[in-house]
Amino acid sequence: MVIYLEGEIDEAIQLDDMTPRQIVAELDKHVVGQRSAKRAVAVALRNRIRRQKLDPEMAVDVMPKNMIMIGSTGVGKTEIARRLARISNSPFLKVEASKFTEVGYVGRDVESMIRDLTEISVDMTRQEKIDEIAEKAELNVEEMILDILLPPARSSSNSYDFSPSGEEAVPFGSADSNPESNKAQSEQFQRTREKLRQQLRDGKLDSRLVELEIREKNYPVIELAGPQGVEEMGINMKDMLGNLFQGRTKRRKMQVDEAIEYLMQEEEERLIDMDQVARAAIERVESSGIIFLDEIDKIAGRESGHGPDVSREGVQRDILPIVEGTTVNSRYGMVRTDHILFIAAGAFHVSKPSDLIPELQGRFPIRVELESLTVEDFKRILTEPKNALIKQYRAMMATEDVIIDFTDDAINSIANYAAQVNEHTENIGARRLQTIMEKLLEEISFEGPDLEPKTQLIDAAYVESMLSETVKDQDLSRYIL
Ligand SMILES: Nc1ncnc2c1ncn2[C@@H]1O[C@H](COP(=O)(O)OP(=O)(O)OP(=O)(O)O)[C@@H](O)[C@H]1O
Ligand SMILES: [Mg+2]
Repeated sequence: MVIYLEGEIDEAIQLDDMTPRQIVAELDKHVVGQRSAKRAVAVALRNRIRRQKLDPEMAVDVMPKNMIMIGSTGVGKTEIARRLARISNSPFLKVEASKFTEVGYVGRDVESMIRDLTEISVDMTRQEKIDEIAEKAELNVEEMILDILLPPARSSSNSYDFSPSGEEAVPFGSADSNPESNKAQSEQFQRTREKLRQQLRDGKLDSRLVELEIREKNYPVIELAGPQGVEEMGINMKDMLGNLFQGRTKRRKMQVDEAIEYLMQEEEERLIDMDQVARAAIERVESSGIIFLDEIDKIAGRESGHGPDVSREGVQRDILPIVEGTTVNSRYGMVRTDHILFIAAGAFHVSKPSDLIPELQGRFPIRVELESLTVEDFKRILTEPKNALIKQYRAMMATEDVIIDFTDDAINSIANYAAQVNEHTENIGARRLQTIMEKLLEEISFEGPDLEPKTQLIDAAYVESMLSETVKDQDLSRYIL
């Protein structure tokens, strides 16, 4: 399932114009530290834009510089990639390398990542097209609705009695041979129509009932649950099956606002050339797609042992051609993978990059290491990023009119406890902050709206009282923090 977080990048800056420095600055808003990793991904992104400006003859030979991010758990590897996806307007897919199985085994074969990426690109491209034509579609739909509300009843004999404002009841279409009165009538008609248009735009007609000719759409229920979820596939299934299952029409009464929505969809479908979208989408994947291969360390290992190890090397061998450059058949056409950027990531605690098969190592020439997080980093992570934990908790409680304030030494103390627990038990990086904060605010979260007073100050003493017991007791902290 893909979860879209609300958009938040500055619309003004397009990736194409962003220098590596600006990309890093954008990443800085969300990820603390990790300078070398940020620089590396920024350069990789920028290089593709540089490549696009080369003449084609040279461009084909410029290969993307795939990279491996190495760093222990919870230091920001996935976070960097996730943020990168948001700022780069490129099709972006994050997959766990450990999810794939060798061709011939049950599970997902590696080519599916290219197909998924293409799917994402088609969605992006289609959405952009929709935005492009939205204005035109809206105008068309407005005319359609007006036609329904006030039919231009030229030749029909039934006179139409309609008065939007309640004053003038005008019979339209009553046959009249007098050209003068005909003209006056059509002017009258236009005036009424314009009045109606204004009312429509103001939303005053939203709840009026109209009758529409609608195409029946009975899609069979097909659940295709990939890692990308039903959502994206679903839309495209409809596109595909739409043509098979339509044809019959029926009349249905609905409210004007509902009708507008329905007609907008129809208009969008009519105005958008899906073949063109598919071509543009494939072109986009080929020249700017990014695949984030998480957990690459989990498939490292060459030992021809038993069990999963046997297929580990197999998966690596399968991934090889895709990273190297091959052609994958997708529903929208053939996709060349030569210039797709691969960013692999892993903790590499047990295995080392050198445990990957040599051919694969060679295809990830850039290595960046992420540093372990310090107490100082924790303090910044708690407070600085746009959606930092402290901000999240404050906002959550604010929904119940409870204001929580943290003193500086409270933040200090939280960061210290996090570092301490990481040291004594397992080092889970910044994720420790979440468990600590949850424990710290247990009482306040529970009491919620019943809290008195409404403003709660969390100082070092409070942190101490809530956490010191648990932190001191190692066994306890293993379970709770
Ligand atoms: N440097 C950082 N700055 C801000 N937040 C961070 C940083 N590192 C980690 N976090 C936060 O910690 C959580 C886990 O980080 P992330 O998912 O990036 O870990 P990871 O390095 O991918 O770990 P894993 O190897 O377990 O996948 C996220 O909620 C993220 O916001
Ligand atoms: Mg991760």
